[in-house]
Amino acid sequence: MLEDTSFAIHPGKDAQEGRNNFKDIGNLVTNEVQEDIYQFICENGTVNVVFYTEEIARVIMNPDMKPDMGLSKTAINRQPMQVEMEESESTFTLRTNKLTIEMNKQPFRLKVMDSDKRILLNEKEIGMGSGNAGEVICYKTMEADDHFYGFGEKSGFLDKRGEKYEMWNTDVFAPHNPETDPLYESIPYFMTLRNGRAHGVFFDNTYRTFFDMKTIDEVYSFMAEGGQLDYYIFAGPAPKDVLEQYTWITGRMPLPPKWALGYHQSRYSYETEQEVRELADTFREKDIPVDVIYLDIHYMNGYRVFTFDKDRFPEPKKLIEDLRESGIRIVPIVDPGVKKDPEYAIYQQGITDDLFCKYLEGNVYFGDVWPGVSAFPDFTDEKVRDWWGQNHKFYTDMGIEGIWNDMNEPAVFNETKTMDTEVMHKNDGSPETHRALHNVYGLLMGKATYEGLKEQLNGKRPFLLTRAGYAGVQRYAAVWTGDNRSFWEHLQMSLPMCMNLGLSGVAFTGPDVGGFAHDANAELLTRWTQVGAFTPYFRNHSAIGTLYQEPWRFGETHGELIKKYIELRYKWMPQLYSVFREASEKGLPVMRPLFMEFPEDEKTYRISDQFMIGNNVLVAPVMAPGVTDRAVYLPEGEWTDYLTGDQYEGGKAHLVHAELDHLPIFVRKGTAIMEGNVVPSMDTKQTDLTLHVYASRKNDRYQYTFYDDDGETFSYENGSYKQLDIEIQCGQEGVNIDVINQTGSYKAPYEQIKVEVHGLEDTQQVTVNGQKDHALKIK
Ligand code: GLC
Repeated sequence: MLEDTSFAIHPGKDAQEGRNNFKDIGNLVTNEVQEDIYQFICENGTVNVVFYTEEIARVIMNPDMKPDMGLSKTAINRQPMQVEMEESESTFTLRTNKLTIEMNKQPFRLKVMDSDKRILLNEKEIGMGSGNAGEVICYKTMEADDHFYGFGEKSGFLDKRGEKYEMWNTDVFAPHNPETDPLYESIPYFMTLRNGRAHGVFFDNTYRTFFDMKTIDEVYSFMAEGGQLDYYIFAGPAPKDVLEQYTWITGRMPLPPKWALGYHQSRYSYETEQEVRELADTFREKDIPVDVIYLDIHYMNGYRVFTFDKDRFPEPKKLIEDLRESGIRIVPIVDPGVKKDPEYAIYQQGITDDLFCKYLEGNVYFGDVWPGVSAFPDFTDEKVRDWWGQNHKFYTDMGIEGIWNDMNEPAVFNETKTMDTEVMHKNDGSPETHRALHNVYGLLMGKATYEGLKEQLNGKRPFLLTRAGYAGVQRYAAVWTGDNRSFWEHLQMSLPMCMNLGLSGVAFTGPDVGGFAHDANAELLTRWTQVGAFTPYFRNHSAIGTLYQEPWRFGETHGELIKKYIELRYKWMPQLYSVFREASEKGLPVMRPLFMEFPEDEKTYRISDQFMIGNNVLVAPVMAPGVTDRAVYLPEGEWTDYLTGDQYEGGKAHLVHAELDHLPIFVRKGTAIMEGNVVPSMDTKQTDLTLHVYASRKNDRYQYTFYDDDGETFSYENGSYKQLDIEIQCGQEGVNIDVINQTGSYKAPYEQIKVEVHGLEDTQQVTVNGQKDHALKIK
């Protein structure tokens, strides 16, 4: 590929690629108001501005014609609203209580301000524009204190200031280096944090897009190779507000089944039924909790999706049933490529019913993937999505409740790594090229799969894992970060990568624990499993030809440590599940960068090697070989090391000692976490719950929300859940714990929750709902 040759540094490259032809939008010529659409016709393009809420506005610029308001492949349709408009000699101003957009007429420039007149977005010398080859671009002022986050799945550190990114879903097996870009997911969205306040931008364009916070001093830009300059502005002002606003537009994660939050074991591949059974038996013999075993591509007959290889897996249904008896679920891989084979039913249907991607001229697009020459379902067409979804009956009839979508960028074994961009997609009646829709192929495959599964599972929650996606992917799937390697550097990189995915609306995410390619080793797998126990998605996966890396593979000492941390995951399940509930309701990440909880603390803005779970737990893993001491920055407050009970003062850094058995986890004093008993898998209900309260002597008040339900069905949507709003008040005298609200009709498998208070001093008393007995009664 040219990008891999010296052409990449050719001085005339930009000109050759047609990127040096920026045409400014020019002056305002006239304007129109059509109900709730404010339209500004300029010399070189037309801009529509609409508001959806007081905090969310959308700007759409079309260089050639009136903007098309209905093009989104992901935004949940909302009603725009009318707002106040004022005109002065030189400007138009649109205003809500939270956002003001001021448009300068000559030249046309946009300035967005919040309710305190603080500028969020600003255009000075250059603003919006377009290029000869159909590119659309806009430039905004970059303030000295701006920090950038989000952008979906990107390598490198947490803060993306000084970086330049491309969005083009790509299968990257080559090592994920700091400059390896793009990767599998395209989430053209970012959040800017400036002096404690945040705002966000979602550039809803499915062409190849670019974000540049690097090339020009004090200016950043975003551009697309085609389509409209269509972006949403989220007013914030807290980072959490931005995410609530962004996910109001792109949707939130449905609450996953509890089993999907357990430990997952995978390998490319467990190749036979026998091997899978032995694997499951070993977990049970060694008493290591596990919820899921994956079937990678070897389970299929010649890599034909919706088939099993009869020699390797003679009785799949029986296998699935037997494993289920010991609480283990099977999740098989399903790739989009359908083998070209006239005797294969799926291929026959695809051809006969015209379900595959085709060129304009009518010939089917074929590309090489695992099965050899393959055709690709056109997921942009509803008929195809329905067909694909229904095909999953093959799996659900066997008792399968989860699917793993891979290679859905789509990946093709050729020079460009993907489908020919000239292929046409049906796009539900408005045909577009693959160039225009490449980035949503994976999202739409996810939609087809999730919706099919949901229909077939009779009220049970499906689980879907995907590699590729676009903004809004959280509505259908968890995202794992693809083919990493068993490098310490990749363990380190997984933290900011997952945090930025979380900041991009994808709460359910994690890397291959232990690393996919290359060989893991005892120490790496131990340290990585410690982190994995706290990443939202927790799967150990490794590649063909590498050392096996199941928990026991590197000897007893390390095996025991790994087991201990898998158990810890299950202990923390009630806590994690409550945070997942919050994520599904508000769009907030489960695994959060520190600044999300401490946006006023500038020291947190660039911390890539620590993260928070919810609002009160901080994890600072050891991520290098031979290291047993690390610096940990603790924000304001007082903190307790969860494992040792050691106390730390916040607002500064500490050198924390952590031998191989020790993952530094800190709980903020004055708060609480909920723990359950260790179970072999989430099929066994946790009946023994304990609320751990970390006493403080300061006058701290903390509202803790504990959430539980059956973990399996959608009946929580009809009120079958249990939510406890618990108020914890700490002070000199002691700790008062009060359930101020208990809601929902779910009959929990426990009648009370024990309360344990840590760090009490002799003089301090504890009351629970005004009483001295330490238990919360569940109604
Ligand atoms: C891709 C996936 C990997 C999988 C392999 C075989 O490389 O990213 O997870 O194991 O294909 O299906």
